[in-house]
Amino acid sequence: MKSFNLKGYGGVRLEADMRGPDDAPPVLIVHGAGQTRQDWDDVACALELAGRRVISFDMRGHGQSEWPASGYLLDQFVEDLKAVLASLDARPVIVAATLGGWLAMLALGEEGAHLAAGLVLVDTPPGPDGERAAEVGASLRRVADSAREPRWDAALLDQLGSSAIQQRLMAAAPRLSLPVLSLKGTKSGLVEGPSADDMLAAIPGVELVEVEGAVHSSASERLETFNAVLLDFLERRCPLTPPEYREGSDARTFRDALGCFATGVTIVTAMDGDGNPVGLTANSFTSVSLDPPLLLVCIANNAGSRPVLESAERFAVNVLQIGQQPTSNRFAGRGEDRFASTPWQVGEFGTPVLTGSLASFECGRHALYEGGDHIILVGKVMKAMFEPQRDPLLYFRGKYRRLHFA
Ligand SMILES: Cc1cc2nc3c(=O)[nH]c(=O)nc-3n(C[C@H](O)[C@H](O)[C@H](O)COP(=O)(O)O)c2cc1C
Repeated sequence: MKSFNLKGYGGVRLEADMRGPDDAPPVLIVHGAGQTRQDWDDVACALELAGRRVISFDMRGHGQSEWPASGYLLDQFVEDLKAVLASLDARPVIVAATLGGWLAMLALGEEGAHLAAGLVLVDTPPGPDGERAAEVGASLRRVADSAREPRWDAALLDQLGSSAIQQRLMAAAPRLSLPVLSLKGTKSGLVEGPSADDMLAAIPGVELVEVEGAVHSSASERLETFNAVLLDFLERRCPLTPPEYREGSDARTFRDALGCFATGVTIVTAMDGDGNPVGLTANSFTSVSLDPPLLLVCIANNAGSRPVLESAERFAVNVLQIGQQPTSNRFAGRGEDRFASTPWQVGEFGTPVLTGSLASFECGRHALYEGGDHIILVGKVMKAMFEPQRDPLLYFRGKYRRLHFA
């Protein structure tokens, strides 16, 4: 086992352990409130024996990690988890308990399920409001207050009680498009009632397992059963052997195979009939021909922007630079007015050009083809502008990357 430091949000120091072979598929353990990574050592050892690489870390305000004066807002915990995920060289299966489960659901549901290969939610309630959740909070506080050398900072409980969490978890649940297993103790009471049922039912394809007899922690109280269920899920849904796709088998594996092709990231834009800009993030950009100057992008048939893009006489492809990752997320996400918070202008040929991009191609529609569940939009380039100094935003295996020259 190797111990090391990770950097969380705002540079907060997080202490971590890593076990198992460097090239094995990783499992990331995110403990619950009032726990530390050591509480998960037995699970981590079992996973290592089963051929996995296991990373576990102490959350902020827990164990040997920093107990920062900057605080314990839920979003600071979520950002810590995202920073940890971004530091790993492969997408892990996340095993996350109680508070850890909330963080994982929010990071993956709000940011992108592509950040992980799978998710195991352990005793994760639908929010802090239920009677049992309040009881658990009170007993955690008693334990922390009476300990001579507390293992975690009870001050964090004050900042994690907001009922807004429940709404965020409900909104995140349907967006968890990855293999998810939910484990709960039959006697826990934490993951019970209509809100728990609703939250779990909203997770696409979730597997539900109850661990007989467990009260507080299905992992520590029923270790053997817990490990057996966990390993079975990992073997079935995230196997150790290299994944293989055959026509007709699962689309996720096909996507993962395609994700081995590293790309840049673009935002494809056009004006709708009323002169309003539309646009979406796309990495299916390809150069096609030098003479005539042609390029293509593939747009999903079910993309909201498709009707405008397929009928627009002109469109633009904006290639993103490293500082535009938030813009990429904005144009791939829902709900936000994408152009309101993005600097843009009308280009010489009437298309929305995102200011500060690495390159922008203003195109006339040259051809349109059907391509399965996408359309293939071929543009004839009327004008290209580029910025020779900046680095590109890259995308590889479902994650943003940056150029890195050794
Ligand atoms: C890095 C990245 C690349 C993407 N590439 C494409 C793509 O090539 N074609 C596509 O249709 N959607 C792609 N998407 C997904 C769309 O951006 C996303 O579904 C968006 O919400 C669609 O917006 P709309 O429904 O408003 O058109 C990509 C998303 C990301 C994060």
